[in-house]
Amino acid sequence: MTKKDVLRVLKADDSYVSGQALCESLGVSRTAVWKQMNQLKTEGYDIESVSNKGYHINSAPDILTDYEIESEPMFKEGFVDEVVFFEEIDSTNNEAKRQGDTIRDKAKLLICESQTGGRGRRGRNWVSPSGSGIWMSLLFKPDITPASASMLTIVTAMAVKAAITDVLPKADCMIKWPNDIVLNGKKICGILTEMSAELEYIHYVVIGVGLNVNTLDFPEELSDIASSILKETGVKIKRSELVVAFLKEFNYFYKKFMKEKDLSSLVTEYDAMLINKGREVVTSGELAISGTAVGINSMGELIIKLKDGDLKVIRAGEVSV
Ligand code: BTN
Repeated sequence: MTKKDVLRVLKADDSYVSGQALCESLGVSRTAVWKQMNQLKTEGYDIESVSNKGYHINSAPDILTDYEIESEPMFKEGFVDEVVFFEEIDSTNNEAKRQGDTIRDKAKLLICESQTGGRGRRGRNWVSPSGSGIWMSLLFKPDITPASASMLTIVTAMAVKAAITDVLPKADCMIKWPNDIVLNGKKICGILTEMSAELEYIHYVVIGVGLNVNTLDFPEELSDIASSILKETGVKIKRSELVVAFLKEFNYFYKKFMKEKDLSSLVTEYDAMLINKGREVVTSGELAISGTAVGINSMGELIIKLKDGDLKVIRAGEVSV
């Protein structure tokens, strides 16, 4: 019997679970149950025990362990089969790559409390302090071509946006093309997708998500551009709840994506989440192009309407809002 087993039974029931029922459903002794309860209490779980009634879980701590996430009732509706937790790691994307060749049909989530070498896109680093954010990577082997893999980043951004809305409907976050999540104009989430592939065959894909949830202190140089859900809304979210919502939403959007193996059935929904839509954008790079963002096409490319009315498709890179 693991902590996950005990938590699953407790979380599945809004009322009290008798000690006997727990012993029977888990096939263990009363002493074994009692020991696990005490262990969970020392970790911050508020578990009430009332004589003649049994056990009841009042609240769980804001932790991201595999047993906290996997014991959530909604976990089974999510995308992954397994969660692997690290208190501290260099980067969950690096760890996913180290484990990459072991992945077959199942999907894994690697998640940690803090990263010592968190990586962002274009070789930037990603500040990943302990206790306040969600630093995680999905590891799986999709049956798509390497050329389609960049669309998974779009799918992920949609899942993050939808998950935040599920947990905190008043958080008015949007996607900045292609895949940053912004709230009040500031970036609260970034996504880094990597893969190991041959020209026509994917060995595995790693989708890293860095989500500033309850972070309050940002380095000086980031304070104008980066923020967190707590900083922008004043609401502290329980991170495991957001992770489980993300896994459920990812499952939903990924299934839609896999029907055509492109974004055709997601374009309308994505465009409704796109902060750039109908706004002036300027592309980065030497030949900066400016125009009004119209939305994405089924490949996830951004369509821009130029001053003369011509449409131009932007494949990669960044645009300013
Ligand atoms: C970006 O530059 O916007 C992408 C940031 C991605 C950060 C996440 S945190 C979890 C995973 N591990 C990493 O080292 N990076 C990604």
